[in-house]
Amino acid sequence: MKNNRPGLLNRRRVVAAGALAASGAALLAARPADRGAPQAGDFAAIAQALKAAGMASTPTLVVDRARLRANAAKVQAHAQGHRLALRLVNKSLPSLRLLDEVGAAAAGARQMVFSLPYLALVAQERPHTDVLLGKPLPAAAAAAFLAAPPASGFDPARQLQWLVDTPQRLAQYREVARGRGQPLRINIEIDVGLHRGGVADEETLRSMLQMVLEEPLLRFAGFMGYDAHTQKIPDIVGARERVHRQVLETYQRFVDALRASPLPLAEPLTFNTAGSPTFRLHDGSGAANEVAVGSAMVLPSDFDTPLLADLQPAVWIATPVLKVGDFAAPNGVGALGRLARAWDINQRTAHFIHGGNWLADPVSPPGLGTSALMGLSSNQQLLVGSGGQALRPDDMVFFRPRQSEAVLQQFGDIVVYEGGQVVDQWPVFPARG
Ligand SMILES: Cc1ncc(COP(=O)(O)O)c(C=O)c1O
Repeated sequence: MKNNRPGLLNRRRVVAAGALAASGAALLAARPADRGAPQAGDFAAIAQALKAAGMASTPTLVVDRARLRANAAKVQAHAQGHRLALRLVNKSLPSLRLLDEVGAAAAGARQMVFSLPYLALVAQERPHTDVLLGKPLPAAAAAAFLAAPPASGFDPARQLQWLVDTPQRLAQYREVARGRGQPLRINIEIDVGLHRGGVADEETLRSMLQMVLEEPLLRFAGFMGYDAHTQKIPDIVGARERVHRQVLETYQRFVDALRASPLPLAEPLTFNTAGSPTFRLHDGSGAANEVAVGSAMVLPSDFDTPLLADLQPAVWIATPVLKVGDFAAPNGVGALGRLARAWDINQRTAHFIHGGNWLADPVSPPGLGTSALMGLSSNQQLLVGSGGQALRPDDMVFFRPRQSEAVLQQFGDIVVYEGGQVVDQWPVFPARG
């Protein structure tokens, strides 16, 4: 026994040393690898073009025209191939020139508009556009629009559909029509499962159709049923497929109720559905005859889904680096900063950029990220990296927007990049609406 003790102790030491070595190795293996690399490919070319155009000193929204056109052609091919009309979502492409570009590629003059200021703008500046409102605005918006009609030749009685979601709102629109003695085209929002509002049952629909029937100034123009939920819910045991089928059935039920009603129908009617996340699910076999698409044209990162996998990101925020140095966390959390640097090579170098805190994520050069120790800033955002990016002051970094709505309007004119150079600048909608 006595003789065994030293042996036992030794074995324990060996086991302990082995465990220590193993956990040390595991710790080393868990250490983040260097994700940094210099700017390359398209991003290096765009940075070069911005510098050459004298546009590298301030945060800038850049659109890649070739990618935009390729996306638009694919979206249009889907719609055309299934005999569905395409309606551009105005708020997601908030620039007349951007809408023109996509509309030209997509051969369409239909837009879905979401506010009175943008309605007035489109009606004035693009008088041939066919407009469907994408949300039910207060009836006062209709009154205001009719009181100050555009001088462009845009004809609301022919080109504009107001979206109405309840009998109460329909009564208010009826008052506007009567008060002005002017006809209003009415599109009824139907709830196909999203539950964001709209008519949820056929009885309510029939009561609204009756109101339209009884008021010659109200003209029925169609339905709008938005279905984004079908791609947002978790796809457990085929839930998305099942819920998409419910959308189609519900839409059909409303159309059947419409066709069975005594209301004389002025064809063609607008049966709008879908949005970027879902338009690919519609193949023309349902009751809807058009799809609305906006964001997919520029593919912000929130739209990276298998259904849109063949589309390419087409917009980025480019902004200059102002300062580069070793990352030092602010006083008070300096020790934590030293720990972070020692542990993660990707936190060694600090880059302070012009602006920041956008609804967007850094994409190039690779391996840049934010630091919880410094937080976000709209003024001079910190991006940490390994230093492998080899960035110097005045070099550019690129962010990819998560959404296009609102974000595209934060940088002044959109800068258009094509074939290695800046070729145009597109004014954006004023940031309101
Ligand atoms: C009624 C309606 N249709 C369609 C869309 C789709 O827009 P996007 O294609 O930009 O996702 C939206 C977006 O909010 C919407 O509200």
